[in-house]
Amino acid sequence: MDYININKEAWDKRTKIHVGSKFYDVEAFKNGNSSLNTIELEQVGNVEGKRLLHLQCHFGQDTLSWARLGASVTGVDLSTEAIEQANKLKSALGLEATFVANDIYQFGNESTEEFDIVFTSYGVLCWLPDLKLWAETIASSLATGGEFHLVEFHTFNDLLCGYSYFPRSEPDVEDEGTYTENCDGTKSKMVTWAHSLSEVINALITAGLSIEHFKEYPYSPYNCFEDLEHVSGHGYQMLHKGQKVPLLYSIKARKIG
Ligand SMILES: C[S@@+](CC[C@H](N)C(=O)[O-])C[C@H]1O[C@@H](n2cnc3c(N)ncnc32)[C@H](O)[C@@H]1O
Repeated sequence: MDYININKEAWDKRTKIHVGSKFYDVEAFKNGNSSLNTIELEQVGNVEGKRLLHLQCHFGQDTLSWARLGASVTGVDLSTEAIEQANKLKSALGLEATFVANDIYQFGNESTEEFDIVFTSYGVLCWLPDLKLWAETIASSLATGGEFHLVEFHTFNDLLCGYSYFPRSEPDVEDEGTYTENCDGTKSKMVTWAHSLSEVINALITAGLSIEHFKEYPYSPYNCFEDLEHVSGHGYQMLHKGQKVPLLYSIKARKIG
């Protein structure tokens, strides 16, 4: 199955919807708002003067937010529409950034550049069939001593929605709308893979990265799933039989030696 082209087409279509959405609020971003949340800001810390690679950067708001904080940034995304929009945003704001339209595995094969930080977040792993290769891409992109930061939606919630928690040999292929408020019922065919937490962690360990932090959170900054309720000061939570559902997790890992 040509999952790359199927997903590229879906993300090209989604990006056109996302740039006009309240969810991404491009006007507020242009007026100086950061798109980064407290979790990643606290985890990544000071990026001033650091070379930062943002994998699956979508249309670049997070990448450019890191640039505003002083990082020298490169964003990679499969969607040519997303990269086009990212470049437009960069020019409109007069920021420095390199945006590359590519599959992350292909980027990993072609790039010889080294980075101090590799960052990726919120809805990235389900699009990738092979986490071993993903982790190798991260390891080969990092300079010795460099840090990897992941903030991702917790797959426990996928289980509650009827998807597999554990990896399966076959992907899920579905027609789905998008998560912004303006999606208007537009659907696209998409191909996704389930990845359990142990699969993610073991892929990073196998690629030679040393895990320094792992945390789970009962809140999400984004109102992008059904049955979420707003909790003042925290974001959104979901209750299952009265108990808080894990909605996010974060990992920091380092390339040693
Ligand atoms: C949910 S978005 C990432 C969210 C991001 N944190 C944001 O909201 O700005 C997932 C991104 O992964 C990209 N993507 C999917 N498969 C990819 C692949 N194989 N290589 C590179 N990017 C990919 C999509 O084009 C999309 O922009």
